[in-house]
Amino acid sequence: MRAVQVTRFGDPDVLKVAEAERPSPISTEVLVRVIASGVNPVDCKTRRGDGVSRWVGPPPFILGWDVCGVVEAVGYGVTRFEVGDLAYGMPRFPRAAGAYAEFVTAPSRQLARVPETISPIEAAALPLAALTAWQCLVDAAGVHHGQTVLVHGASGGVGHLAVQIARAKGATVVATVGRTDREAFATRDADVALDLVGGTDTSELVGTLRRGGVLLAVADGATDEVKRKAGARGVRVMEPLVEPDGHGLEEVSRLVDSGALKVTIDGTFPLERAAAAHARLERGGVKGKLVLEVSRR
Ligand SMILES: NC(=O)c1ccc[n+]([C@@H]2O[C@H](COP(=O)([O-])OP(=O)(O)OC[C@H]3O[C@@H](n4cnc5c(N)ncnc54)[C@H](OP(=O)(O)O)[C@@H]3O)[C@@H](O)[C@H]2O)c1
Repeated sequence: MRAVQVTRFGDPDVLKVAEAERPSPISTEVLVRVIASGVNPVDCKTRRGDGVSRWVGPPPFILGWDVCGVVEAVGYGVTRFEVGDLAYGMPRFPRAAGAYAEFVTAPSRQLARVPETISPIEAAALPLAALTAWQCLVDAAGVHHGQTVLVHGASGGVGHLAVQIARAKGATVVATVGRTDREAFATRDADVALDLVGGTDTSELVGTLRRGGVLLAVADGATDEVKRKAGARGVRVMEPLVEPDGHGLEEVSRLVDSGALKVTIDGTFPLERAAAAHARLERGGVKGKLVLEVSRR
């Protein structure tokens, strides 16, 4: 099968198309023929030797997590899928999944059926970004009606979905869109701040929260200084790392099919041009998501 490998850690041009062995599903796994693979900042970080590279291991390896495709085979014990189903997910993260390829295997409970109202390209853009937003806002912070949620970095992959998920839960959303947008930092007494930018802004976000509020330090985690400042103000700090989550994805599918959650595709690239997709994401200014087209439905 065709796959895109990280041949060594470095710039986008270390991504090379290679022939790789088609994986086989063991018990509880499914084999997916990939239609599209989503591109995330963690793909770029891992390509550079940062991100989750310590769990993926040394090059060469096939990059990528977000995937949408057709179930080609099911291993012993699988009850959630049949051959021919359209499935999506972000299997095995933070270990390698090898989603930049024509076939992947995945534990069946880490996938969900694709929402009926969207294309495979849109579905491939969702899992890692939407589950990050869902697990942070709903699972970790328990966002509910009447609360105020600040989303820092709202025009990106996670941010544009987080805004919609918070609104679907009945929250008022305050957001930053773009590097020069600082207005939201005047907010006081927010219940939840979702930090998708990091750097020194993480510390500044503490000041936007009420006592008992929650800072979700998604981009870079929180420094000791941020934790001290938050502790002094009675703000809780969480450093979430997104996890594969078939049931969370079913919730995402429901939101999508209800019309409450729309994913924005900024651009698509053929699998062979994964390096160009990485260069585009690293340049900045992407509104929503980039997706690799792998095969036809
Ligand atoms: N912990 C986890 O589990 C987890 C999961 C998913 C993502 N992440 C991390 O979270 C971050 C965001 O992910 P993503 O997929 O949303 O990335 P993304 O698509 O690149 O979006 C980031 C957004 O932040 C904007 N931005 C950058 N600097 C800003 C600033 N100073 N003020 C306001 N907006 C600013 C960017 O706009 P411009 O491009 O126009 O500058 C971009 O729209 C990344 O670092 C990613 O690795 C962590």
